Amino acid sequence: MEREINGELLNIPEHVAIIMDGNGRWAKKRLMPRNFGHAEGAKAIERACENADELGIKYLTVYAFSTENWKRSVEEVTGIMNIFRKYLVDSIERSNRENMRVRIIGKRDGLPEDIIEKINNLEKETAKNTGLQFSVAINYGGRDELTRAVRSIAENYKNNELDIEDITEELISKRLDTRELPDPDLLIRTSGEFRTSNFLPWQIAYSEFYFTDILWPDFDMDALVDAVRYYNKRERRFGGVR
Ligand code: FPP
Repeated sequence: MEREINGELLNIPEHVAIIMDGNGRWAKKRLMPRNFGHAEGAKAIERACENADELGIKYLTVYAFSTENWKRSVEEVTGIMNIFRKYLVDSIERSNRENMRVRIIGKRDGLPEDIIEKINNLEKETAKNTGLQFSVAINYGGRDELTRAVRSIAENYKNNELDIEDITEELISKRLDTRELPDPDLLIRTSGEFRTSNFLPWQIAYSEFYFTDILWPDFDMDALVDAVRYYNKRERRFGGVR
């Protein structure tokens, strides 16, 4: 989709994925505890949803907590879980007002019981919304997601529910947590790190990557438009010749 932004005609990516990094450093620069950075990061998520919707981005997917993040201090993990608790409840009303559908991707197993309930409730309450399709990765790891997909396919095979020939790229995509989403067109990582950190490894095979030094709590509309402008400079070939 093309959109005129400040007099500039931009091709808007349909699906943008973001690795939100730098909350800790943002807080440290202000001599504040890391969880203060995460709380600001949560506000930046709300802004990013509004901005993405305004630009005409249809799908936004963010990496909030990885399967490896449990290794952080108990204090930090507890702080992040409490931010999730508040977000999962507060966002029902806001999402419905803005026609936004929220999905949570990642492994439910291992999450606190009350958080699983809040996730199920938020997904159910926003399921009919047709505006921005927002997905949050919580307890997510790409290798874990692929492992779960392989297990579910093996289970079907064992029960004679499918043949080897039925195992196609399409089938695998349909067994991932992102089964209802198109692959990301653009992957953004903030805070000057150049890694993809086990985020959507299958899905980003053909995505454009954009890295910025901006720390996540500072990520605003200008930063998002810069990323979209960068995306416009790329010529996507999907392995072919143009
Ligand atoms: C990366 O910064 C951030 C995280 C691992 C946590 C992201 C979590 C939130 C933004 C909390 C809110 C989420 C929702 C869905 C409301 P970092 O801690 O790795 O920063 P650093 O690299 O500067 O230490």
